[in-house]
Amino acid sequence: MEFVVEMLNIRKEFPGVVANDDITLQLRKGEIHALLGENGAGKSTLMSILFGMYQPDLGMIKINGEQVKIASPNVANKLGIGMVHQHFKLVSNFTVTENIILGNEKGIVLDISGAARRIEELSKRYGLNVDPHAKIEDISVGMQQRVEILKMLYRNAEVLILDEPSAVLTPQEIVELGKIMLSLIAEGKSIILITHKLKEIKAVANRCTVIRRGKTIGTVDVATTSELKMAEMMVGRNVSFKVEKEGSRPGEVILKLDGLTVNNNKNVPGLKNFTLDVRAGEIVGIAGVEGNGQTELVEAITGLRKVESGRIEMEGQDITRESIRGRIHKGIAHIPEDRQKRGLVLDYTLEENMILQVYNRKPFAKRGILNKAAIRKYASSILESFDVRSGRGPLSMSRSLSGGNQQKAIIGREIELDPGLLIAVQPTRGLDVGSIEYIHKRLIEHRNRGKAVLLISLELDEVLNVSDRIAVLNNGELIGVVNASETNENDIGLMMAGVGNGGDQ
Ligand SMILES: Nc1ncnc2c1ncn2[C@@H]1O[C@H](COP(=O)(O)OP(=O)(O)O)[C@@H](O)[C@H]1O
Ligand SMILES: [Mg+2]
Repeated sequence: MEFVVEMLNIRKEFPGVVANDDITLQLRKGEIHALLGENGAGKSTLMSILFGMYQPDLGMIKINGEQVKIASPNVANKLGIGMVHQHFKLVSNFTVTENIILGNEKGIVLDISGAARRIEELSKRYGLNVDPHAKIEDISVGMQQRVEILKMLYRNAEVLILDEPSAVLTPQEIVELGKIMLSLIAEGKSIILITHKLKEIKAVANRCTVIRRGKTIGTVDVATTSELKMAEMMVGRNVSFKVEKEGSRPGEVILKLDGLTVNNNKNVPGLKNFTLDVRAGEIVGIAGVEGNGQTELVEAITGLRKVESGRIEMEGQDITRESIRGRIHKGIAHIPEDRQKRGLVLDYTLEENMILQVYNRKPFAKRGILNKAAIRKYASSILESFDVRSGRGPLSMSRSLSGGNQQKAIIGREIELDPGLLIAVQPTRGLDVGSIEYIHKRLIEHRNRGKAVLLISLELDEVLNVSDRIAVLNNGELIGVVNASETNENDIGLMMAGVGNGGDQ
């Protein structure tokens, strides 16, 4: 039999949205099959159906040619299907082994050491390098993801579903994950890989099924299809990977950082004697490997973290000890790295989230009374202009939106404040090409209107394409500042590794 999994003409409707509309996906044994689609296209829904979490309204599923009804994740497990979710479901104060056997205990007496041995064996066989005795809270996100993969293997899964696994990984970890996937198919497993990253699809996938707004657009052979072609199938129009922008015309200094030293969570300097100016009408990008002082830098500017020494000025005023709210009033807006923790109140509606910083201003409040019509109008116009897709518009619960749409809502809200300084931290993390292109355009527009933008990103492509100047961080220190038009990935990569070029401001 050629196909291990066939999902035929699947339909799934949620109140107000058809998440899957006649979708067909066929997985061959031993292949890596990419599932590509914009945020909200219906990918996670389709995979949740295959994993027994939802029942389809219409359509049929076959496993090894036999029609099945997958009533629950338990049934899916028995059919040899495993899934790693976008947000992991591990218990942080349990060990790797405890997490893996959780819910799969055989008999009354737990054989923990036997389980640990088997986990170690599987880990070796697939090159996962996981310590079965480590506690989840002590290991990196990348390692936790491997634990999720091990959990599937421990349950003898033959079909592995990975829902946007690279969204939480560093570039190096993504390469490692690619190797792991190749070793899995070498052992006869079959993989469905959800991702937005065309590079990754090109690197590991055999075929790719593209869905758009709940509908199948087609399945292509990856080797003979260009990245551009796949991107266009996904968004339904021409796309360009090149960011269009004219040269910058920097004006006066908006943000001045002078000899900043900021402690990290371990109470030692995470940012050391850092000096940088960001001017009106320019985008300054910060390049660096994760954990080299970016968090300390951003939190010091936004007021979330105390400064040990040095000075921060916004438009000539000392704000080193200003409150968070005071800084917002002075024109600093912040697109945070963690959109669910700091960006949105997930149990508020979208319109409530759109006025978090301005609800007490006119016209939204007058003598303490909220003007609902004005709020609705303001929120609707942001949601429309940033193409935020949701079931119930301004009344949608923020939690119900896909990650990309949550992100667009946050960016819309922050840009709408028309800040003198916009700090964008990983603004396109985990997003698809269409949304990335759009967000880059809006950042450049903001700069073109004479505002300052500070972009912090782990995606080197993004830093190179969007910034006018690039400051490189290594181990909390500024290695140098270069003009984006006069540098390349190699040079920046060397600086990121701590090899300085002196730098000219
Ligand atoms: N449990 C749910 N209830 C209501 N709507 C949902 C639910 N899950 C997903 N949706 C909606 O279905 C659509 C597809 O979502 P999803 O499958 O998560 O997309 P993707 O994974 O491609 O980003 C979106 O419009 C989303 O808001
Ligand atoms: Mg999803």
